[in-house]
Amino acid sequence: VCYGWRVSFLSFFLSAAQPITSKLDENWWAYKDVVQGSFVPVPSFWGLVHSAWNLCAIGKRQSPIDIETSHMIFDPYLTPLRLNTGGRKMGGTMYNTGKHVSLRPDKAHLVNISGGPLGYSYRLEEVRLHFGSEDSQGSEHLLNGQGFPGEVQLIHYNQDLYANYTEAAKSPHGIAVVSIFIKLSENSNSFLNRMLNRDTITRINYRHDAFLLMGLNIADLYPDTTRYITYEGSITIPPCYETSTWILINKPVYVTQMQMHSLRLLSQNEPYKIFLSMSDNTRPTQPLLQRCIRTNINFSKQGRDCPNNRALRPQYRGNMEEGRREGRSNVSALINKNFCSARNECHFFFFYTFHLFKAN
Ligand SMILES: *[C@@H]1O[C@H](CO)[C@@H](O)[C@H](O)[C@H]1NC(C)=O
Ligand SMILES: *[C@@H]1O[C@H](CO)[C@@H](O)[C@H](O)[C@H]1NC(C)=O
Ligand SMILES: *[C@@H]1O[C@H](CO)[C@@H](O)[C@H](O)[C@H]1NC(C)=O
Ligand SMILES: *[C@@H]1O[C@H](CO)[C@@H](O)[C@H](O)[C@H]1NC(C)=O
Repeated sequence: VCYGWRVSFLSFFLSAAQPITSKLDENWWAYKDVVQGSFVPVPSFWGLVHSAWNLCAIGKRQSPIDIETSHMIFDPYLTPLRLNTGGRKMGGTMYNTGKHVSLRPDKAHLVNISGGPLGYSYRLEEVRLHFGSEDSQGSEHLLNGQGFPGEVQLIHYNQDLYANYTEAAKSPHGIAVVSIFIKLSENSNSFLNRMLNRDTITRINYRHDAFLLMGLNIADLYPDTTRYITYEGSITIPPCYETSTWILINKPVYVTQMQMHSLRLLSQNEPYKIFLSMSDNTRPTQPLLQRCIRTNINFSKQGRDCPNNRALRPQYRGNMEEGRREGRSNVSALINKNFCSARNECHFFFFYTFHLFKAN
């Protein structure tokens, strides 16, 4: 039954849409169904509409993923990430691409990262924002099944091996993405405030709008921590190449409710077309399969009596809620609670991690 539907559906692609063999329109995809008659493939179809995108459907190292903190492995050899701005501020152009808010640094101001899980130096290509229509969703990565209102992705390419982003994106060790969850608060991160204050964000209300920003310090975007979580995955838009090292910073950045509201008012379309909010521009999470999630958070320093963290998994949801109420929903706080709340024998561990994260 399903088969027949699928075949006719695909033949619809073949006839009505771009001929699959000819030049591909690399923008011919969407996050959600568009209600206007014109068909554009949503994430579950990305991998089916063009053979060059088949990793989106059959890849085994896809992103984003749901990070289960109980699956993380402490890796003592993970050094802190190094950010190199040359001590200079940068300029960049902020775009409404119809799919994301995208900030591209100008070529005169090079920023690169190295260290941590990275064996090469990676140059910043783009700062990209994902965000939701509601506060409970909007990040691409999830943490123990929970989403955040948004996610900033700093996309870098391997400048040691490759000439540019395009070449790196399809090549081994090509891409490094630093990912930071966005949460809501009274005060906003000073870098995001430059992008999202009313005067600025309203300049890119519509698709193809662009606005130049100067004097940005990318270091301001990084939360004050050296802790992160890392895994090997893919870029999260077609063609879903499996060339990305992901580095998820163990602390969120904040924007105001008003700034989040402004983001939700951005349109995916040109001004003369119907308003379609850009929000919920997220790919659903993909299976982890055989991959390993490593972290430099030393949660393994637990007493011999400590219960195996996996046994506590059912508590996660409750803990998350509690963490939220207490305003302590960063990963360290979560791990702390998940591992240590219930059992007395974990006091030692609790004490240790508490100080570890405080010192952080
Ligand atoms: C990294 O960026 C800095 C500052 O812009 C620059 O001086 C340095 O040469 C870059 N490193 C590499 C390996 O290109
Ligand atoms: C990227 O680099 C490759 C290889 O050097 C080159 O062929 C290509 O034209 C470059 N693309 C862009 C967009 O600069
Ligand atoms: C992590 O904890 C272990 C276990 O107690 C300890 O031996 C080790 O020194 C710690 N590693 C780091 C890098 O802090
Ligand atoms: C993260 O957790 C630590 C430890 O509980 C806490 O001290 C810190 O304030 C939290 N940070 C944020 C941004 O929530």
